[in-house]
Amino acid sequence: MILKEFFDYYFGVVDPEVLEIYKGLVPDAPDLAAAYADLFSRNDEKAIAFLLEFHNATARLKEENPGQAILFNVNHNICFPFFVNYIWQAISDDDREKVYQATEKRDLDAIIDQLREDRNLRNWFRREIGSHLCQEDLFTLNEIIALQNFSSGGESSFLTFVYPRVQKMQGRVLDAGCGAGFATLVMSQYLQVFAVDACKARLERAMALSGMMKKGEKRIFPRVVQLIQDELGTIDVECQFPGADTLLAGSSQEVTFTEGSIAGLPYPDGFFSCINCLDVLEHTFEPEKIVQEFARVLQPGGSVFITAPTRYGEVEQRIWESIEGTLFPAMLHMHHFDPQSLTEMFNRNGFEEEQIIPFDFMDWDSFLDIADRSPAQELADELRAHPFDKVALQLFAVYKKR
Ligand SMILES: C[S@@+](CC[C@H](N)C(=O)[O-])C[C@H]1O[C@@H](n2cnc3c(N)ncnc32)[C@H](O)[C@@H]1O
Repeated sequence: MILKEFFDYYFGVVDPEVLEIYKGLVPDAPDLAAAYADLFSRNDEKAIAFLLEFHNATARLKEENPGQAILFNVNHNICFPFFVNYIWQAISDDDREKVYQATEKRDLDAIIDQLREDRNLRNWFRREIGSHLCQEDLFTLNEIIALQNFSSGGESSFLTFVYPRVQKMQGRVLDAGCGAGFATLVMSQYLQVFAVDACKARLERAMALSGMMKKGEKRIFPRVVQLIQDELGTIDVECQFPGADTLLAGSSQEVTFTEGSIAGLPYPDGFFSCINCLDVLEHTFEPEKIVQEFARVLQPGGSVFITAPTRYGEVEQRIWESIEGTLFPAMLHMHHFDPQSLTEMFNRNGFEEEQIIPFDFMDWDSFLDIADRSPAQELADELRAHPFDKVALQLFAVYKKR
């Protein structure tokens, strides 16, 4: 539903030449927004071919005309009023009253104009209002965020850390928060994969790819790998992907896909020999509840693979948020961990640490450089008091169930 609402809005506000690009991808559609919403909720071949074209077109638009692209949380983007409207419907009357007082306006369009122009106001809004969205709102917004990129973020970490281990494993694996299904697809060459995600648009993408692989159609996969690599490159993730032929050298086993929250898994106790959960815990409301659920569905001796941002990842995120004046936490991260807090959470729930690898390093001077650009100057001062060489923004961890 949100996708149809979103496309109705978006096609109504883009420039005519941009609209022509989108019309060209689905010629002869009587209702363009309905056709797009439909294609994003389907998992047939036509839909996946469309998705690749769509994401290539949006990548070009982001480069050449970012104000007209689908960009989440960017105040001078044409989608900005849509996101403010969404939050406005989701928040309480008390919070609306706070906004009326802070802006001295009672009309939403005027409030949106003011938010567009005033970074301090957006920073206030994020701290006081935008951080209080509930889990369901987060899941809903996620459907639109999934339109920004074909990739779902963890592909490079999967290839670096998990892929070499998976090739030696057997049994059933849970891809918890599988996103667009890259890890699911690759793992299905070796293991029986059960993939769960709360975002329908991403899950349909994963199902479409998996369906094509099952039919032996590996032709499309090189295009998928190329697109993901291009997208990660634009957000400065260094990645050297093996070719599609290597990644999908075997024959894929059937994957079971489920739309839903990993906080309540529809599987019996001890069902899995391994769980892959990359770039997911930070997005969830109750990570501890999820770790408990992992402990339940994992067999003794089974492993969980995790990636998550560190506390410094959080600081970096907070700095960018305040520099840009985002309306609510960028990328919808709700939590961050350091090696100790992550391990304690897993220890409390019946796991032992096998390995923790910090990665995604930034040197200290670059870190301070961005801190200096932040309007939250006390943060830069605090950092300056405890300098060190370089900063790891993310963690990869392996925990074994006792
Ligand atoms: C940044 S993406 C990572 C996806 C994938 N694991 C990867 O490595 O690319 C985070 C994913 O977690 C999913 N997610 C967040 N909270 C979830 C929850 N409670 N249950 C299921 N999926 C969730 C989101 O829908 C999204 O697809």
